[in-house]
Amino acid sequence: GRVAVALGGNSAEREVSLNSGRNVLEALRARGVDAHPVDGIPALLDALRAGHFARVFNILHGRGGEDGVLQGALQSLGVPYTGSGVLGSALTMDKVRTKEVWIARGLPTPRFAAFKKGDDIAQAIAALGFPVVVKPSHEGSSVGITRVYSADDLPAAIELAARYDGELLIEQLIEGGEYTVGILDGEALPSIHIVPKGEFYDYHAKYVAEDTQYLCPGLDGDAERNMRALALAAFETSGASGWGRVDFMRDGAGNNYLLEVNTTPGMTSHSLVPKAARAVGISFEDLCWRILETSFA
Ligand code: DAL
Ligand code: MG
Repeated sequence: GRVAVALGGNSAEREVSLNSGRNVLEALRARGVDAHPVDGIPALLDALRAGHFARVFNILHGRGGEDGVLQGALQSLGVPYTGSGVLGSALTMDKVRTKEVWIARGLPTPRFAAFKKGDDIAQAIAALGFPVVVKPSHEGSSVGITRVYSADDLPAAIELAARYDGELLIEQLIEGGEYTVGILDGEALPSIHIVPKGEFYDYHAKYVAEDTQYLCPGLDGDAERNMRALALAAFETSGASGWGRVDFMRDGAGNNYLLEVNTTPGMTSHSLVPKAARAVGISFEDLCWRILETSFA
């Protein structure tokens, strides 16, 4: 039957999703799938109720599409969709609660405190020590994230993060390397070590810069095996399924720290899961096909 490629939407990652979606659409069509773009959830639900589509390839990033809201609606309509279900999507869109679950399960993640703009965070700062990272709890693509090295820079960082979310977190900055592990069909792809030219792998380094370096696999031997195993454990512990991507920091002593799980990772020309897949001989078209198959589960 016809496949709706759900893209765009109205989150802060709209442009990224339009980009990912165009690539997915092209790849599915090249594989003979009768795939059509649908922008945003209201249009998608109208089209589904009208019986236009048999299943959904979800490539909406951020709130609305990646956070369980769409997943619940699709489930209630009985329409199969790619990727994680309601719980895994909702939990992993919430960085604070995801970290609380990981900590309860003994999985490593940087120390942190959750707060709202206007809260007194002096105690949290004293406990964490600089440098820290200030983040909105429910965002993607590094939107609203700042690394903070001294108290002077804290107010601006909080102001920025609060533009995107009522719930914020302040997290210990792990100094070291940024890594990520893609997950496809219950298996971890090779890790990628991301080496941005600027301070960190921010929105610009993710989607615009051509000088960000990607090393894949990012590690060797046991170190690589351990990171992949930790990625899978974090993914499964978070209730995620199908496909996704787990982001890490790794310190100089080789300790891994989980940052977050993405249940609808980017599929742009700069994105990570396609790079990791390619490293094990899975073309972009094959990758899209394998993700579509997760909707058959
Ligand atoms: N949130 C972006 C799309 C990613 O994780 O790739
Ligand atoms: Mg993310």
